[in-house]
Amino acid sequence: MTERVDVRLGPRSYSVHIGAGLLESVGKIARELSLRGRCAIVTDSNVGRLYADRAANALREFEPLIVTVPAGEKSKSLAEAENVCEQMIATGLDRSSFVVALGGGVVGDLAGFVAAIYYRGIPYVQVPTTIIAQVDSAVGGKTGVNARGGKNLIGAFHQPRAVIADVVTLDSLPEREFNEGFAEIIKHAIIRDAEMFADLEKFDRANLAPLIARNVAIKAAIVSADEHETTGERALLNFGHTVGHAIENAAGYGRFLHGEAIALGIVAASDLSMRCAGLSREEHERILSRLAQFSLPTHLPDDISTDAIMAALRTDKKFAAGQVRFVLTSQIGSAFVSRDVTLAQIRDAVENLR
Ligand code: NAD
Ligand code: GLY
Repeated sequence: MTERVDVRLGPRSYSVHIGAGLLESVGKIARELSLRGRCAIVTDSNVGRLYADRAANALREFEPLIVTVPAGEKSKSLAEAENVCEQMIATGLDRSSFVVALGGGVVGDLAGFVAAIYYRGIPYVQVPTTIIAQVDSAVGGKTGVNARGGKNLIGAFHQPRAVIADVVTLDSLPEREFNEGFAEIIKHAIIRDAEMFADLEKFDRANLAPLIARNVAIKAAIVSADEHETTGERALLNFGHTVGHAIENAAGYGRFLHGEAIALGIVAASDLSMRCAGLSREEHERILSRLAQFSLPTHLPDDISTDAIMAALRTDKKFAAGQVRFVLTSQIGSAFVSRDVTLAQIRDAVENLR
């Protein structure tokens, strides 16, 4: 059965389709959206090997160009965005073309960014193949690449025309990449859904599709309410990301999977929530157990220094104008943005990760 969740954004509204075997329907959905011209399927070396031929077959009426980037976070770079654009230009794709992002969050963020800047913006469709991408990154229109100074510092808001999440593609995820997806699911549960947090304890893989749909509904509601992160609601999705992004940057892209770094950021945010927002120790322990249940890290290796993490943190977009905005939870199921957290308290929380 296919589930559909709508992201309501006026003229930029679109549907997220979630179900088994949807890869074969990508061409049909593109046609229904009146997409025309040629398309570029942007994918990475792992996903391309597994799924590019099937996607290209489904999209054959759009004469697809397959562009493959190396797998991994390092491909989220301006150099790789340029490389993709140059291949599209050399093949004659123009403003009537569209992009299909086939892969995890790295491909989705990169290909979405290419769609945002190619001929000053062309349509794109997200076909996410990791849990992180299906529950989070493919939905909401945040696209971009990393800079030397920090994650996602170069980017654009550009909403996809559709998101097509084929849950069967998740079967080929290696165990570590499967587990990392639960960092963002646990984040959604902490900020919005105490019942889902409790249900996760008895997670059964047979129920993955409804779990993904439930997470997409959370993300879609937040994005619909605050598309450009101006009211503070969308900022709640950054729970665990301030310290998580800094750890990812300080460790060097590629050492941790994104979800693993976010898991450490969630531990730090939960620790700060105990000190600054009245989160009970019992709920903090429940958060640690849920992360451990999916083999996510809860301790920081000694060779990544606190100084390096604090230096990376200062370049974070969330520290705009030098003001610290930190997402805290007082109780699992709800969150808020605090302006009262100090850098010294964040430093202590990072130290407590050891
Ligand atoms: P990823 O795209 O690097 O995928 C992880 C690994 O799994 C890669 O090696 C990839 O090749 C492989 N893979 C992907 N699908 C596969 C499949 N079906 N079978 C086998 N292997 C497969 O990483 P990710 O965890 O999906 O995404 C992380 C990225 O997403 C980060 O860059 C993060 O910043 C970004 N992100 C963006 C948003 C947003 O709102 N735009 C939200 C959350 C995360
Ligand atoms: N992943 C955070 C956001 O989409 O706002």
